[in-house]
Amino acid sequence: MDIVLGLQWGDEGKGKFIDLISEDYDITARFNGGANAGHSIERNGKRITLKSLPSGIFMKGVQNVIGTGTVLDPVSFRKEILNLLQFDGTVQPEQNLIISRKAHLVLPTHKLLDVFMEENPEYTTIGTTRNGIAQAYSNKILRQNLRVGDMDSPDFRGRVEHILKRDFRLLAGGDMILPPLEEISNEFFEAIDFLKKFTRTEIEIFLNTAIFERKKVLAEGSQAAMLDIDHGTYPYVTSSSTTASGACSGLGISPKKVGEIFGIAKAYCTRVGNGMFPTEILGRLGEEIRDKGNEFGSNTGRPRRIGWLDLPALRYAIMINGVTQVILTKADVLSGMESVSVCTHYELEDGTIEQISGVLPDNAHPVLKLMKGWEGDISAIENTDDLPIELKDFLSFLNNELGVPITYLSTGPGREQILKMEG
Ligand code: GDP
Ligand code: IMO
Ligand code: MG
Repeated sequence: MDIVLGLQWGDEGKGKFIDLISEDYDITARFNGGANAGHSIERNGKRITLKSLPSGIFMKGVQNVIGTGTVLDPVSFRKEILNLLQFDGTVQPEQNLIISRKAHLVLPTHKLLDVFMEENPEYTTIGTTRNGIAQAYSNKILRQNLRVGDMDSPDFRGRVEHILKRDFRLLAGGDMILPPLEEISNEFFEAIDFLKKFTRTEIEIFLNTAIFERKKVLAEGSQAAMLDIDHGTYPYVTSSSTTASGACSGLGISPKKVGEIFGIAKAYCTRVGNGMFPTEILGRLGEEIRDKGNEFGSNTGRPRRIGWLDLPALRYAIMINGVTQVILTKADVLSGMESVSVCTHYELEDGTIEQISGVLPDNAHPVLKLMKGWEGDISAIENTDDLPIELKDFLSFLNNELGVPITYLSTGPGREQILKMEG
């Protein structure tokens, strides 16, 4: 099994890369997260953002798996499938998608509770995507949640209604305007009927059998290392394991079966939501990069915060994931800048930090290396020799600093806009 995952704060371009390489695989499997993800794919000049669906869904011969480590919102799933069919009438998700019976369900009140906590000053505001992700995962850990497999049990409706009523009593204590319970309940059960059209199975057995038969599996991560529940910038993180080990636990596959680990990183950083962002570029320059890179949440439309590439954070992400190849995206967005900065380390009064670990002392400040920028539109370049010399210098600097090769350079959002880097 190979793994694709994000190395920064999400939105590195995982969807585009997976859509591209999934044709070399038999199976693509999402291992974590849910509708908080937004993986954009461009096909035939049109663009779609996948949330819970694996990014191999367009490949006819590829089996797609929604893994055990994910949380699935039936209402969002239904909308996503209908949108997918409208986008491309030839896709057949009922044929090439299977769902883990052990994946956890996101209930309508999880989403309401997410909003409630985000807006209530008695809780820390994380800046979530408001998809009920933390509420579904926390109920899983509390062992109070329902799973996809529970849909088939005769008392499912009663169990859901019990939870919805219980959560509503809790929510009624706040000043949130609540939708009618009956309305959200009806919408949920309609979505459950829709979900039942899809194959649900023990995906651990399916995947391990496939690996035994020498089929190629690609694990697809959502979010990214710095948003990992354990290793990220807690509490401003998501609620799942976003790392390579999360792929193993989320799919029930032994670490011994892992081959390549592709880490995706932008040539700069972005972050949506709250939390530390020491290389953040405030003011006009940040706005310019945001506009040029179209840095607005694929999922929520929120403007993404922009920062310089943070090598201490990237080294850490590469280390905890055991990354074997780095895929660098969006260098085209920085084209035309006189200079480009990279944070090489952090300075403290009494020393330096070469590798941050999700936490950073208050008095640490980023040390930026100024590098010469590159000119021209690189998005149509087909041969690495034709890249501007300044960009080549930038890439070889990163190769040295990271100790892991950059094997692909993505030069635009389109499928064909990617260069395989030589040796
Ligand atoms: P993901 O969540 O990691 O899949 O990334 P998103 O899809 O949320 O955000 C990445 C955005 O950048 C999408 O709009 C992609 O179409 C776009 N994109 C991906 N790679 C590149 C690239 O190399 N250059 C440019 N300009 N855009 C890219
Ligand atoms: P992809 O897979 C970027 C962020 C949210 C918030 C925090 C917690 O497209 O890279 P949550 O809704 O998960 O409880 O929010 O995590 N976040 C993401 N940021 N890309 C994502 O996914 C994200 N998924 C969650 O903005 O800061
Ligand atoms: Mg995204």
